[in-house]
Amino acid sequence: MGMSSKMRVGIIGGGLMGREAASAFARWFVLEKFPVQVELVAVCDLQDSLLEWFRKVPTVKHFLKDHRQLIALPDVDVVYVAVPHNLHERIYLDVLEAGKDLLAEKPFGIDLAAAQSISDAATRSNRFVRCSSEFPFLPGAQRAIQFAQSGKVGKFLEIRSCFWHSSDLDPSKPVNWKRQNKTCGEIGVMGDLGMHVVHIPLRLGWKPLRVYAQLQKIYNQRPDGKGGMAVCDTWDNALLHTEVKIGDEEVPMRLETKRMAPGETNTWSLEILGTEGGVSFSTKNPKTLWVFDRQKEQIWQRIDLGHQMVFPTITGGIFEAGFPDCFLQMWAAYAAERAGHLDGRFGCVTPAEALASHLLFDAALKSFKEKSVIHLSL
Ligand SMILES: NC(=O)c1ccc[n+]([C@@H]2O[C@H](COP(=O)([O-])OP(=O)(O)OC[C@H]3O[C@@H](n4cnc5c(N)ncnc54)[C@H](O)[C@@H]3O)[C@@H](O)[C@H]2O)c1
Repeated sequence: MGMSSKMRVGIIGGGLMGREAASAFARWFVLEKFPVQVELVAVCDLQDSLLEWFRKVPTVKHFLKDHRQLIALPDVDVVYVAVPHNLHERIYLDVLEAGKDLLAEKPFGIDLAAAQSISDAATRSNRFVRCSSEFPFLPGAQRAIQFAQSGKVGKFLEIRSCFWHSSDLDPSKPVNWKRQNKTCGEIGVMGDLGMHVVHIPLRLGWKPLRVYAQLQKIYNQRPDGKGGMAVCDTWDNALLHTEVKIGDEEVPMRLETKRMAPGETNTWSLEILGTEGGVSFSTKNPKTLWVFDRQKEQIWQRIDLGHQMVFPTITGGIFEAGFPDCFLQMWAAYAAERAGHLDGRFGCVTPAEALASHLLFDAALKSFKEKSVIHLSL
C-alpha cells in the first residue's frame, strides 16, 4: 500500500455522521506525535444546505452531488461513507472499484447478502477497509477490555453488552429512514445499534455459538412530517440471548439494542462478571469505572477515569471523555492501522467482524420467527 503521511479524505453523506467526521478531522492536531496527517478535501451530499455547511471547512475543495464524481478525484485517498443503509452496497462497491480505501459506516450493508457482497469486494480490491464503531475507544471501554484479558475475572459468569436509546417512546416523533425496512433494513435496531455491542465481544474472540432472539415492534406507524401517517415497520428493541466459548466454558452473553429504553438517550454499556472479579462501564456515567474484586469481603470499587486514550492527545489527563473524543480516536485507529502503525492497539471493526455481525442478526431474525435457538459458526 503506497502511503504518504497525509491521508486525504472525501465524505459521501454529509448528515449527522458526515459532519461529526469533519469535526474530528478539524482537531486532528490534538493527537500527540501521531504519524499521519489528515485533510478533508471533498464532500458529497444531495442537500444544498449540507454542502453549504461544509464551506466552513477551509480544506474542502470539492462540493458534489454525485458520489461518482467524488470517487474519481485523484486527490482523495480515503472515502468515508455515511448514507442510509439501502445505499451502502452500491456506494461501497463503487468506492472500492474506484481504487479508494474505505471507512464504511455500520451496519456494512442493509442485510446479510449486502454485507457478503461488500466483504467479497473488499477482499478482491485489496483496499484498506474498516467499519465504524467508536465506543470501544472510550477509556472506560478500554479498561473493561484490559480487565477481561487480565486473568482477574476467574471463571466467567456472564457478559452483557448494551446500547439503549429512548426518543422513540414519543409516538409523535416523525418517521425517518431509520424507521423503515426499505431504507434501514429488516434487522432494524440491530442494524442501527448492533455493531456497537458486538465489536468488543468479537474482538475478544467471544463468538456466539447460538442465539435466541426476542424482537419487539412497538409503534407500527408514525407522523410522516407532512400531516399524514407513515408506516414504521422496523424492529425497535432486540434482546439476543447467546452463548460464547471462553476457555473451556460456555458463558451466557446478552446483547441488547433498544430504541425504547425509558430514560436512556445514548447509553452504551458493557458488563463482564466472573467468580473472582468483574467490570462494569456505562456512558451514562462516562468517568466512572466499576471494578469488582472478591477478597475476604466482596467489593465493588468505583474509579474516576480521565482522558487516558488509545492515541494520546493534549487534553489534560483528568478531563472526562465524550462522544466526539471517541469518534476522533476511531479515526486515529483507522489512519494508524492503514499506515502500518497500529502497533497492537485496538483497531476498527474489520470486514470479517462486520460480516459476522450480520450472520448473527440474520440468525436473530430467524430465531424470532421460529421461536427457536439458531446455531452459528462465526
Ligand atoms: N457510528 C455511529 O455512532 C453512527 C451514528 C448514527 C448513524 N450512523 C450510521 O451512519 C450512516 C448515516 O447515518 P446518519 O445518522 O448520518 O444519517 P443522516 O440521514 O443524518 O445523513 C445521511 C446523509 O446522506 C445523504 N445522502 C443520501 N443519499 C445520498 C447519495 N446518493 N449521495 C450522497 N449523499 C446521500 C443525505 O442527504 C443525508 O445528508 C448510517 O449507516 C448509520 O447507520 C453511525
